[in-house]
Amino acid sequence: MKRIKIKELLLSKDFGKEVIVEGWVRTRRGNKNVSFIAINDGSIIHSMQVVVDIAVFGEEALKNITTGACIKVKGILVESQGQGQPVEMQAKEIQLYGTSDPESYPLQKKGHTLEFLRSIAHLRPRTNTFGAVLRIRHNMAFAIHKYFNDKGFYYIHTPIITGSDAEGAGQMFRVSTLDPHNLPKTPEGKIDFSQDFFGKETNLTVSGQLEGELAAMALSEIYTFGPTFRAENSNTPRHLAEFWMIEPEMAFYDLEDNMTLAQDFVQYLVKYALENCKEDLNFLNEMYDKELISRLEFVVNNDFKRLTYTEAVEILMKSGEKFEFPVSWGTDLQSEHERYLVEKHFNKPVILIDYPKEIKAFYMKQNTDGKTVRAMDVLFPKIGEIIGGSQREENLEKLEARINELQIPSKDMWWYLETRKFGTAPHSGFGLGFERLILFVTGMANIRDVIPFPRTPKNAEF
Ligand code: 4AD
Ligand code: MG
Repeated sequence: MKRIKIKELLLSKDFGKEVIVEGWVRTRRGNKNVSFIAINDGSIIHSMQVVVDIAVFGEEALKNITTGACIKVKGILVESQGQGQPVEMQAKEIQLYGTSDPESYPLQKKGHTLEFLRSIAHLRPRTNTFGAVLRIRHNMAFAIHKYFNDKGFYYIHTPIITGSDAEGAGQMFRVSTLDPHNLPKTPEGKIDFSQDFFGKETNLTVSGQLEGELAAMALSEIYTFGPTFRAENSNTPRHLAEFWMIEPEMAFYDLEDNMTLAQDFVQYLVKYALENCKEDLNFLNEMYDKELISRLEFVVNNDFKRLTYTEAVEILMKSGEKFEFPVSWGTDLQSEHERYLVEKHFNKPVILIDYPKEIKAFYMKQNTDGKTVRAMDVLFPKIGEIIGGSQREENLEKLEARINELQIPSKDMWWYLETRKFGTAPHSGFGLGFERLILFVTGMANIRDVIPFPRTPKNAEF
């Protein structure tokens, strides 16, 4: 006989049938006649209640069935007498796979803080909270592929090790096989990277965009979905050193098309979560954030407000709000400014466009005003920036001029520039931070709690 997952059994009406479940004990309670074991296999947030007749099994046989232990139960599926679950099992045989010492099991008691759970990242998937977050994370990854596949976008695998630092999106992590205690030097006394594994300096990628653009210049509509790495020392609830990013890139899209896609994409994902992650969202709504589900519904049902950076700066300057960082035209917006616009002023998601070129990347399409570029940032309640993107500069001369202005070493960029030389095309794209999306959908407050093993400054234990 094969095990059936609890998710499936809880929907079953096969009362009287003999079934097997396997999973981890969440609780065991009862009296001297009967014991109730709640067993969870992670397939769903709910546990299966197993009813054990102590006269049949004996106290001794049950003594090691404690919280955290792993067991296999064969029993009869019956309609539940108690409240809280539709079905339960009457145990016939119990096999103990692994004990879990109640004295030392860190999850013996409920109600741990999220900070404490971060220190036991190897065990926290056993909690309801992380089970819910991880199931939602899976569903969102699946929905991303489904969305693009249904629209005819092709999934491109861009490299994780890169030889260029053109994006300038953040500090990079070096990839090297050189012996740090005995670095080869050039005659000028610099590190001789020609002796390194790839014969040049290489790093972990900060974004798959530049390579994604190459693919879009052939397949029209593509997306990447991979890990990206930024070695900034930002210890905030919204930054990771290793995070996942989804980057669609589309030939023949202008900034308007780009914004329309971004809104449709995020609304699709949030709607998918509402429809497919109900139990987990209900749990998170109840335990962490009573407005979670209504906030998700609101985002699905309302257009995002579109306005220019210049208009946003005017609103912020006139707001009378005391910001920690003052606003003026030309400065990058801080998360407090973004959240003011979204949460206080417009009360809906916002897409800001046409940012000053000085605070945006070299590849963004230059506006005729000479000052701004066709950038777009999508700003969300509680999160701030969830998406960053732009229409790209497709004109070779303008792009080269900007590269020279910024003194970007163009010898590393020849391949990127060739797309502008051979059959250049208007095109646009954006990057959605996967963990920022999961933060929004789960209502969790800290990005460390929406990725299984967070990488942040001074933290890579697990
Ligand atoms: O705005 P960013 O830096 O844009 C790019 O990397 C472009 N190449 C995207 C493109 O046009 N294809 O990053 C995009 C998104 C941000 O909006 C944010 O959601 C997320 O990536 N992000 C981070 N998420 C977690 N931790 C960090 N350190 C992040 N930095 C950016
Ligand atoms: Mg950005």
